[in-house]
Amino acid sequence: MASLLIVDDELSMRQFLTHLFQRDGHSIRVAENGRKAMAMLREQSADVIISDVKMPDMGGIDLLRAARDLQPDVEVIMMTAFANEQTAHEAFLLGAFDFVHKPFDNNLLKEKVARALQKISIVHEKQALQVENDALIKGQRARGNLGNIVGRSDRMQSVYQMIETVAQVQSTVLITGESGTGKELVARAIHDLSPRAQKPFVEINCGAFTETLLESELFGYMKGSFTGATANRKGLFEAAEQGTIFLDEIGEMSSAMQVKLLRVLQERKVRPVGAHGEIEVNTRVIAATNRDLSAMVKDGNFREDLFYRVSVIPMELPPLRERGSDIAELAEHFIGKYCAQTGRSIAISAPAMRLLESYSWPGNVRELEHTIERAVALERTDLIQPERLPDQITNYNPTRISSELQLPDEGMNLTAHLDQLEKTYVLEALKRTDGNQTNAADLLKMSVRSLRHLLDKHGIRGLTAQMRDERRTGDVVPRRRTGDPYPRRRAEDFDDQGEDSGQAASAGERS
Ligand SMILES: Nc1ncnc2c1ncn2[C@@H]1O[C@H](COP(=O)(O)OP(=O)(O)OP(=O)(O)O)[C@@H](O)[C@H]1O
Ligand SMILES: [Mg+2]
Repeated sequence: MASLLIVDDELSMRQFLTHLFQRDGHSIRVAENGRKAMAMLREQSADVIISDVKMPDMGGIDLLRAARDLQPDVEVIMMTAFANEQTAHEAFLLGAFDFVHKPFDNNLLKEKVARALQKISIVHEKQALQVENDALIKGQRARGNLGNIVGRSDRMQSVYQMIETVAQVQSTVLITGESGTGKELVARAIHDLSPRAQKPFVEINCGAFTETLLESELFGYMKGSFTGATANRKGLFEAAEQGTIFLDEIGEMSSAMQVKLLRVLQERKVRPVGAHGEIEVNTRVIAATNRDLSAMVKDGNFREDLFYRVSVIPMELPPLRERGSDIAELAEHFIGKYCAQTGRSIAISAPAMRLLESYSWPGNVRELEHTIERAVALERTDLIQPERLPDQITNYNPTRISSELQLPDEGMNLTAHLDQLEKTYVLEALKRTDGNQTNAADLLKMSVRSLRHLLDKHGIRGLTAQMRDERRTGDVVPRRRTGDPYPRRRAEDFDDQGEDSGQAASAGERS
């Protein structure tokens, strides 16, 4: 049952239409002019308005305009005694659903009303679907992940929040972060959650092209503009029209290309190589780099004006070593992925997982993925043991570090290295004290509060509970479910109470 509002200055017409539509079970209200109709609409919305055009005291066209202003989803069908093309045209421009000329065929009018109602129900269905979709995304978020991106750490929660927010705006985003942290994955997620999702997402690695090639790739070229240009070709900015272009490794652009890109970002127009005119483009730009662009600006290697243009919204992705609590889930995710590809079923042993969680991952998620891919490919049994992992992971221990104090010839990532040292010593202290935080903090000459800060930083708070479990049960792997060699850790494993409950009597925590 729908709600109809009938507006006509002739009483007989109002009565006739009421009779016609009441038989279909619709709820009917009537008004004798536009002004009264608007008053009714303000009181209660309507699905469809059937209105005369010529009426004293606010005619149909003015009513149409005001009604759709007040209630944009109301559908209006106009009736007029005059076959006035001009009025019909104006009504359509103002968003009228349809038009009938008086005298009209009853069935024709009924059919038009039915179609208007059908349109409304489709729109409502779409809206309901959208709400359901939003709820789905929110539900996923509540469980901790977003789309294909794995990781529930606080650092990743902030990333997800940022993705959802920037997806709704048009501003240029600059994604920074070490190699393998998921910059491309995040760029795609922004596109997929944006209103541009149905349009193309086009990706280009700016570091992989020479300057002239990059220009013709990005902006296109005209036939004959250089040797080999045998036909006009669209550039990627145009190919991504109404969608998103992802400029990866933007830090590798030559200074001449930087100038050209700056112009495009400022004017939203591209000039294909060899063309005289420019083409307007509506393409959202997301850029990424693993270089420190602001340092490059200071050194004069990246234009400051372009830097500000591309980094309207800066997003920094955390390195994996700063969100160690995500390692287990990522490892399981990749094991699942590579097992599915080969149709096998392999798990990872607790000691092997412990090694993965202790390692510093200079190559971040990509390195973890490759490690797992290789382990799954080589594994002949159904359990990945430490021996299956690469040497740099299995051999990682503090005694080796002293011999590593020499700076390697190829240089190294000092921050990552120091972080790893810190993590290694914390782990060692926990191991020696069976996961007792008070004793471990004593050993490291720091407060329990500082130690906890480090546990969070390296995502190893859960390990202390595990170590305690192991000491208590004497078991190597604390199995929670049979057949699950590496138990998924639950939120309660990470909270302080859960952690302290086993040893509350033996250790009074300081903070
Ligand atoms: N949080 C994550 N969840 C699942 N997979 C991830 C995640 N982060 C990265 N990956 C995977 O790791 C690999 C590397 O990610 P990506 O290519 O997005 O990194 P990047 O930051 O663009 O690296 P680079 O700077 O080297 O280009 C991809 O296969 C990607 O699918
Ligand atoms: Mg990348």
